[in-house]
Amino acid sequence: MAVSATALPAGVRGIHALPSDHHDGPWDAIITPPGVKERLLGTVVLRLLHGRRLATLSGPLHGLVVLAGPPGTGKTTLARGVAQAAAMAVAAHGATTLVEVDPHAFPSDMLGESQRNVSRLMNDTIPELAARRPHTIVVIDEVESFAVRRSTASFETNPVDVHRATDAVLAGIDAVAAAQPRLAFVVTTNFVDALDEAFVSRADLFVELTLPDMVTRAQIVARSIAELALHWPELIALAQDMELHDLLAKRTEGWDGRRVAKIALGAIAGDPATAVNPSLLDAGRLEGHLDGFGEVLRSTGSRSGAANGEDE
Ligand SMILES: Nc1ncnc2c1ncn2[C@@H]1O[C@H](COP(=O)(O)OP(=O)(O)OP(=O)(O)O)[C@@H](O)[C@H]1O
Ligand SMILES: [Mg+2]
Repeated sequence: MAVSATALPAGVRGIHALPSDHHDGPWDAIITPPGVKERLLGTVVLRLLHGRRLATLSGPLHGLVVLAGPPGTGKTTLARGVAQAAAMAVAAHGATTLVEVDPHAFPSDMLGESQRNVSRLMNDTIPELAARRPHTIVVIDEVESFAVRRSTASFETNPVDVHRATDAVLAGIDAVAAAQPRLAFVVTTNFVDALDEAFVSRADLFVELTLPDMVTRAQIVARSIAELALHWPELIALAQDMELHDLLAKRTEGWDGRRVAKIALGAIAGDPATAVNPSLLDAGRLEGHLDGFGEVLRSTGSRSGAANGEDE
């Protein structure tokens, strides 16, 4: 159950009790290379269930997972998804609170103000929320807006406050990790290079998501059409046409997952008659839709394909 916006503490954009049916979906939606989701889920579950025992180890868990990668590669969706998946895995031991932090809530233009706000969030708000249920997962999306790398933040262009806020985040994570062994932070970022080294080195798991390869793109296309077929069953044949999915995947080299997932909707929206009746969508419209992206394909395709030798 989500709490209404007016009741949310400063810096928090959502509080949810998990597991909850309407949080099903995101975890299954994102297609990752084998083993990635297992590691992600395992790390969070280990922390939630055994954080207290493991705190006595010489290299204790920090309860911090970082999901990094280019835009549209599923980071935010995975962060929310792992919260529900982990909540289900630990449900026999109690419920989980998902706290979604709003990293843009603390503009750092007022000296000291942002640091104080971050400290309050870490020292007061999160521990209070963590007291509600046995397990807590705190998702900080686009964490770089908090944890800007101190060594590159210039004092001319970045106020001292940015450094102080970063320090406050680091100190906060340490304090929360020590005091709340059944709490895990899951953070996402587009800019690994902007992240503070001390922040990254605290991560129990660092997952770098990449642009989807050809096989993954074909699966994303298949899934997106299958979702439409739930509403327009005439599309089931298209959803099962693996040759077509492969063809579309071949033609979208260098695209991120979000763009690939939108191909079918784009093809429907591209034609008013199909928009009125989406069951008119066919292979020709899907391929035709890509024709409009010739230039984009050429400019982005050279980047990813040549660099990792995939899809050639
Ligand atoms: N690997 C993938 N498998 C399936 N769908 C994907 C994948 N990557 C992206 N998508 C699709 O793109 C949508 C957007 O992904 P999401 O917002 O989680 O990406 P993001 O990495 O957080 O992007 P940003 O950095 O721009 O915030 C997802 O809901 C999904 O439909
Ligand atoms: Mg995101």
